[in-house]
Amino acid sequence: MAGYLVDDVRKVTTHRLYEMKQSGKKIAMLTSYDYSMARIVDGAGVDVILVGDSASNTMAGNATTLPITLDQMIYHARSVVRGVKRALVVCDMPFGTYQVDPQDAVRNAVRIMQETGCDALKLEGGVEIIPAIKLILEAGIPVCGHLGLTPQSINKFGTYAVRAKEEAEADKLRSDAKALAEVGCFAIVLEKIPAQLAKEVTESVPVPIIGIGAGGACDGQVLVVHDMLGMNQGFSPKFLRRYANLFEVMTDAVGQYVTDVKNCDFPNENEQY
Ligand code: KIV
Repeated sequence: MAGYLVDDVRKVTTHRLYEMKQSGKKIAMLTSYDYSMARIVDGAGVDVILVGDSASNTMAGNATTLPITLDQMIYHARSVVRGVKRALVVCDMPFGTYQVDPQDAVRNAVRIMQETGCDALKLEGGVEIIPAIKLILEAGIPVCGHLGLTPQSINKFGTYAVRAKEEAEADKLRSDAKALAEVGCFAIVLEKIPAQLAKEVTESVPVPIIGIGAGGACDGQVLVVHDMLGMNQGFSPKFLRRYANLFEVMTDAVGQYVTDVKNCDFPNENEQY
């Protein structure tokens, strides 16, 4: 495909991710929330694009992921899908759409799939949500799990500190990961947990483990695209590597435009009809 930075431009599937784990090839995953960003992320060779409910923070300016609605996630996912040719597109099920009733969960899951054209869904939680995951899988929808610092439970945690440092929570995470893999999740995201625990889980389950703040032994990595491009100032967790400082680049560009307009330097003779 023209403009793509990778040689293998075949559409990524859940099966391909499984093969990547088997052959030791790392999986690159990033978030996107709109068409223009999704085109860039897809063209640069990211394997999985997550339409994260972090859209609540990055796109809407909320303090948590809790306020984003099903309709808003559908809007974001539909926009992303239009920009993607290669990556597997995974959409987060937002808070409240799968925790209350498994029947509701499958209805909401079907709506996201039908109205967005995305490839799979991600749900936060362990054994508590297995009944919902089972029904969604039975409807033919691939599910990615998410354990560790699950942001939809931030009010229960009361802190964004590293999870599962204590043995009881680490044990629960181990058995949750096993249960998610056994029920048929195609991958599991592990967020902000000790690297040693993530390594152990990665080696003990057959499905790909994607880490964020979970060390280098995971089968793949995910970051919020606004964070890794340096569009968010003031969010600097230890796990975040910034690959650009777009906040500065964009501020300078906009500032230059303002200066040019005020100085009657834009538009010039070549920029008019
Ligand atoms: O919503 C999101 O961006 C996520 C990632 C942090 C994994 O769930």
